[in-house]
Amino acid sequence: MKNFRTVSDIRIERGGAAKLDAHIDGLCANKRVFIVTDAGVHALGLLDGAKAALRGAGYRVEIFDQVVADPPEAVVLRGAGWARDFKAGLVLGFGGGSPMDTAKVIALLAGSDQPITEMYGVGLAMGPRLPLMLIPTTAGTGSEVTNVAILTTGETEKQGIVANALYADRVLLDAKLTTGLPKMTTAATGIDAMVHAIEAYTSLPQKNPLSDALALSALTKLRGAIEDVCKDGQDIEARENMLIGAMLAGQAFSNAPCAAVHALAYPLGGFFHVPHGLSNALVLTGVMDYNLPKADGLYGEIADHLRLGNSGAILIDEMQRIKHATGVPQTLSAVDIPDSAIAMMADDAMTKTRLLINNPRQMTLAATIKIYEDIA
Ligand SMILES: NC(=O)c1ccc[n+]([C@@H]2O[C@H](COP(=O)([O-])OP(=O)(O)OC[C@H]3O[C@@H](n4cnc5c(N)ncnc54)[C@H](O)[C@@H]3O)[C@@H](O)[C@H]2O)c1
Ligand SMILES: [Fe+2]
Repeated sequence: MKNFRTVSDIRIERGGAAKLDAHIDGLCANKRVFIVTDAGVHALGLLDGAKAALRGAGYRVEIFDQVVADPPEAVVLRGAGWARDFKAGLVLGFGGGSPMDTAKVIALLAGSDQPITEMYGVGLAMGPRLPLMLIPTTAGTGSEVTNVAILTTGETEKQGIVANALYADRVLLDAKLTTGLPKMTTAATGIDAMVHAIEAYTSLPQKNPLSDALALSALTKLRGAIEDVCKDGQDIEARENMLIGAMLAGQAFSNAPCAAVHALAYPLGGFFHVPHGLSNALVLTGVMDYNLPKADGLYGEIADHLRLGNSGAILIDEMQRIKHATGVPQTLSAVDIPDSAIAMMADDAMTKTRLLINNPRQMTLAATIKIYEDIA
């Protein structure tokens, strides 16, 4: 049996955040909106239009801006307590993957009594949750349409909550929010989105006709726009294509989950706080080279769809070219990760069985170490 789920209410409007009162219609009965964001997004004034629209329409607005990258569990628990005290009627995640993931779990924790420790894993978070709306300000994670939230537990461990209760009630894509995204974040988050689509397309147990179609159309949009947005961040057309592409990729991997690229990327974020997209970009082509003997056909189908040719190796070359063209770092030393960390990171990557089981070729510890060594 093949299953497919996604968020049922998705809106695309340039400048839509400044009309948020209209876009949250029907979602917040008590008119108390709890906005979850990070200090960077808040300081940039990206919330100003949304806040003004809500307050102008008589909503009470509380802003929790303590989210940090790779959100720690402790921050999520603090936000959930705050949302409860505020008697939030709607949780609005506004930002990149970090604020959106945090908002998802806050909505769960504030809406039910299940302890967070019982939520990690697949299908264990039960809900109910508070009404949830998500507005991405990066074009990368696709978290706005996924049933996944990734938190940092303890000092370094990244753990996922995967549950249908995490699908948001509504999503708004507003490309105007993304025009100021710095070039490196644009490149890294854009490559993250491309990885989601590639890994969904090769996600052997659960790939299905819907995830395949979404992954291919995501890659068409993302490949067409990623270099344009890196050259000219104000190119609103390309920015919107990136947002839509990242969302399509999110819909794909939410149903056909990610695999070894993400498994090998997580320790870079967990131990060394390398941004998620950069971590993926670093290990991407090494994992694809390793996968090639088993994934040649599927990579070739993607290459063919992108009119590059029809061999898997061509897709790997194209991703390498995009990494160079967008200027993302190419080595672990460029992101201050010493060779001495490789063994520890490899051991950690091998624990990501939730992801590794989806890889087209069985990943081994020896191969993981070699992939890290090749980019040291
Ligand atoms: N839930 C999922 O399905 C899913 C999928 C992939 C990744 N993730 C998680 O998402 C997180 C990464 O998210 P991300 O890559 O979007 O980065 P992020 O949310 O951590 O944000 C990165 C930086 O970009 C800044 N920023 C965000 N929007 C901006 C804008 N419009 N203009 C200028 N600056 C802006 C933020 O302030 C922050 O400093 C990781 O924790 C990762 O594990 C989740
Ligand atoms: Fe990702």
